[in-house]
Amino acid sequence: MTDNIAYVNGEFLPHAEACISIDDRGLVFGDAIYEVIKCYSQRPFRLRDHLERLKRGAEEIRLPLPLDEESVVRAIDELLARNVRMAESSLYVQVTRGPGSRFHAFPRVASPTIIMVLSPAAPLDPSDYEQGVRVITVPDRRWDMCNVKSVGLLIAVLAKQSALDAGAADAVFVRAGRLVEGASANFFAVSNGRLITHPEGRRILAGVTRKVVLELAAATGLGVDFRGPKVDEIGGFDEAFLTGTGTEILPVSSIDGTTVGQGGRGSITAELQRRFFDVTRTGVLHDRLAGA
Ligand code: PDD
Repeated sequence: MTDNIAYVNGEFLPHAEACISIDDRGLVFGDAIYEVIKCYSQRPFRLRDHLERLKRGAEEIRLPLPLDEESVVRAIDELLARNVRMAESSLYVQVTRGPGSRFHAFPRVASPTIIMVLSPAAPLDPSDYEQGVRVITVPDRRWDMCNVKSVGLLIAVLAKQSALDAGAADAVFVRAGRLVEGASANFFAVSNGRLITHPEGRRILAGVTRKVVLELAAATGLGVDFRGPKVDEIGGFDEAFLTGTGTEILPVSSIDGTTVGQGGRGSITAELQRRFFDVTRTGVLHDRLAGA
């Protein structure tokens, strides 16, 4: 709960007064999609990419978006303007299929709900970003529409809790012997100077941060293998990291107790972090190696 102003279906309201129906299908069926967008110095980072993904997800689940893209952008601008200025904030956008009697098929008349909540971004722990975090693997029991950013996150919730219970920071899903993605982040391994990451498709969310990392890799001539890194390759990884809107680029120091590389942040991860920091703060993707 915050003192911030939230947005609900066209209205700007204090957070505590912002309400939706208890019959909303987002609550009853998880019939909803969402985005989390980080705002640096009041500027939503890669907003068009997030809205494009929201649109794709809406099409996939046959949810008519209640606002067109420009109206969403205007509402976001207004939300940012109505709230206290925050150096870094997290914008949560959720669109549901709206209220209705509890019947699984779509309501006859669509009245989707859209909410937007702005909160201060959780501060990143500098030591985690330098030394890396421990992760565990968990079987991927999710569905085969992981490309859709659905609010049905129960498996991710359980995975993250298992990680914390095990003294780790996050969990990485494994399917058919391959590392797929984290509970709320994409996963990259580094081996022999190349990145390895699961290809897009129905098994992962095509992360916006992942996309920026791939752009940075392309700009610096870093090769990428699009395949799920194998669990039995973990001992041979030189580096590994997670990427996400809140996570940014987070080095992984060990996986299920096996040390990754030297057990800290590797040089490729550090270089990507530095460049990512530049992009998020300036919006500019540099196409030269730093110092070159
Ligand atoms: N999660 N994979 C999954 C399963 C995710 O939930 C997320 C993001 C990502 C990274 O996507 P992006 O770089 O676009 O944030 C990958 C958000 C942040 C969340 O649920 O809080």
